[in-house]
Amino acid sequence: MIQRCNEIMATTLAVTSLLLGVLLPSPVAAFLCIKEVNNGIAVLVTLNQCKLTCGPFGVLWPQPQTAKLGADVVEFLPTNVFLTPLITDEVLPLLLEAFDIFKGNLEKHHPHYSSGSAPWSSHWSPSSAIHGVEVKVQVQGVETFLTLHTNESYELHIHTDGDKTTATIIAPNFFGARHALETLTQLVEYHENRGTLMIVRTASVYDVPAFKYRGLLLDTSRNFFSVAAIERTLDTMAANKLNTFHWHITDSHSFPLYLESLPNMAFYGAYTPSQIYHPHDVRHLVQYARVRGIRIVPELDAPAHVGNGWQWGETHGLGKLAVCVNKEPWESYCVEPPCGQLNLANPNMYTVMAKIYKELAQVFSPVDLFHFGGDEVNLNCWNTTEEITSWMTANNNSLDADAYYDQWGVFLNKAQKLFTESNNAVEVAGIVTASSLTVADRVEQYVNKSQFIIQMRVIRTTDPIIGELLRKNYRLIISNYDAWYLDCGVGDWLGEGNNWCSPYNSWQTVYDHSPHDIATRQTGSSRSDQIVGGEAAMWSEQVDESGLDAKRLWTNPRTNWQPAETRFIHHRQRLVKRGVQAERIQPEWCYQNEGACRRQQPLLPVLEKCLP
Ligand SMILES: *[C@@H]1O[C@H](CO)[C@@H](O)[C@H](O)[C@H]1NC(C)=O
Ligand SMILES: *[C@@H]1O[C@H](CO)[C@@H](O)[C@H](O)[C@H]1NC(C)=O
Ligand SMILES: *[C@@H]1O[C@H](CO)[C@@H](O)[C@H](O)[C@H]1NC(C)=O
Ligand SMILES: *[C@@H]1O[C@H](CO)[C@@H](O)[C@H](O)[C@H]1NC(C)=O
Repeated sequence: MIQRCNEIMATTLAVTSLLLGVLLPSPVAAFLCIKEVNNGIAVLVTLNQCKLTCGPFGVLWPQPQTAKLGADVVEFLPTNVFLTPLITDEVLPLLLEAFDIFKGNLEKHHPHYSSGSAPWSSHWSPSSAIHGVEVKVQVQGVETFLTLHTNESYELHIHTDGDKTTATIIAPNFFGARHALETLTQLVEYHENRGTLMIVRTASVYDVPAFKYRGLLLDTSRNFFSVAAIERTLDTMAANKLNTFHWHITDSHSFPLYLESLPNMAFYGAYTPSQIYHPHDVRHLVQYARVRGIRIVPELDAPAHVGNGWQWGETHGLGKLAVCVNKEPWESYCVEPPCGQLNLANPNMYTVMAKIYKELAQVFSPVDLFHFGGDEVNLNCWNTTEEITSWMTANNNSLDADAYYDQWGVFLNKAQKLFTESNNAVEVAGIVTASSLTVADRVEQYVNKSQFIIQMRVIRTTDPIIGELLRKNYRLIISNYDAWYLDCGVGDWLGEGNNWCSPYNSWQTVYDHSPHDIATRQTGSSRSDQIVGGEAAMWSEQVDESGLDAKRLWTNPRTNWQPAETRFIHHRQRLVKRGVQAERIQPEWCYQNEGACRRQQPLLPVLEKCLP
């Protein structure tokens, strides 16, 4: 059974919009590989070849801005791939490393690949054994660290002449070139009948991401993740061209980071002695991420979400560094157990913060963005702590909410100054989570818009706070718990300027998940310079290592109809070959029989009842 690529114009598909409550007919062009019996008459190709070349974007994920792919492929062996770097000396070590990763990923296309020795067997034809693939990389820039100003665009051109294919990558810097290598990997597949690889004969891709910040948050406090698990997450992010790993390192549950100047933090705060990140682990991950086009944004959540790890102050003569630690009944002092908040009344707390910041700035060097946390402060914790209320009173503060917000604001600005000092006086953009301090009538008093970016978490797309902050000229990172976000977060390397998910109009209309659209609806313009990007969250209360890879590849059953489906499923297969343990999205039969697993009828919303 081999495949043919058919274009199917589906004009009758309809999807129930849960948000809008109407039926929207969506004319969608979909290209499908159709399985047929090989009767020797029709021109049929293997499934992989069909997928590589079917439709305007083949199996590229996320979809590039523009792509032109030839219909033909040429076979080659991964041993005949070589690099011609036309780049600056600064960038060479990074590029060599990225090229090794690229070649490793090509090898993994082989179904029997195992640990560095792909069994390139003897089925290939003599022509594929000599066919060469030259990867020419032209980079003029000297940038070796990703920043919010990095231009991540690239061009990729493939042409084939006789027994040589040349892939030319042109990018303003290493980071664009790295993305191009990722795209190039996706223009290569395993040839099932020949045991070789194949690459599209000709192609042109122009690409640039719609957002500067394409993030994934990982929480390593509720559950510890090994360095290897984090590496796999970074691999998967790189394959999806996500560029920001937001590391929520600590929380009230545990403090898994070993600090040379403050060993007690991990001593008191780690779950076990083996569940600790050492400075060399962190440095390793920063470099591992960088080669994959990813910046790591460390977060030290404060002044709430601290607790375990901070208890050593009293026995070491520094007083209570945190209050309400593990206090019960937790419902009165925090949003989830265990509780804990920094002790604003204790000046030693700031000395300790400064030490932590200093080490963070060193091990994460160079820091591009720093996350100050700032969510879910519980005023009642402070207000029921005698040390804090007496301090408030002694400083002529009242005990009402506004007085506490003032002190929280003082804390935030001290923290910002301490971090800048710790970072050799280099001020980096800080991120804070939206909170009661960032509401419309308080935000300008406490949050300096040139210093901070506000991360919009736990909000609905219709929440007017988004428009209010944009009108006040704050920069935002859009980050929702709603399922729609992860969907699009995986694929947000898309569209032209204003339109996050622009090739997916139906998604966009139905799921209403374009940050620029949200901005337009609330403020009358897309505010593209103020929306820095988006972030998907991986809180670890209920996820541990085993669920990590799978969650990366979320798909929403209600989007089954849409044209990205087949590319997305293929992308997931590709990640599995690279060693990511993703769950199957569908039975293999659906992978081979594209389009056959779609629901014909829209699903109606069903109300669930929970019975005891
Ligand atoms: C990014 O680089 C490309 C290629 O050099 C260039 O065309 C584009 O204008 C640059 N974008 C910005 C925002 O500088
Ligand atoms: C508090 O107010 C009193 C009376 O106005 C004043 O004497 C005192 O210096 C103030 N204390 C502080 C810490 O500002
Ligand atoms: C703090 O406690 C006092 C009573 O001791 C109360 O009057 C005040 O409203 C409380 N403040 C907050 C923010 O709950
Ligand atoms: C806001 O931050 C900028 C950049 O650090 C600084 O120049 C400015 O003085 C700050 N504004 C206020 C009101 O503190």
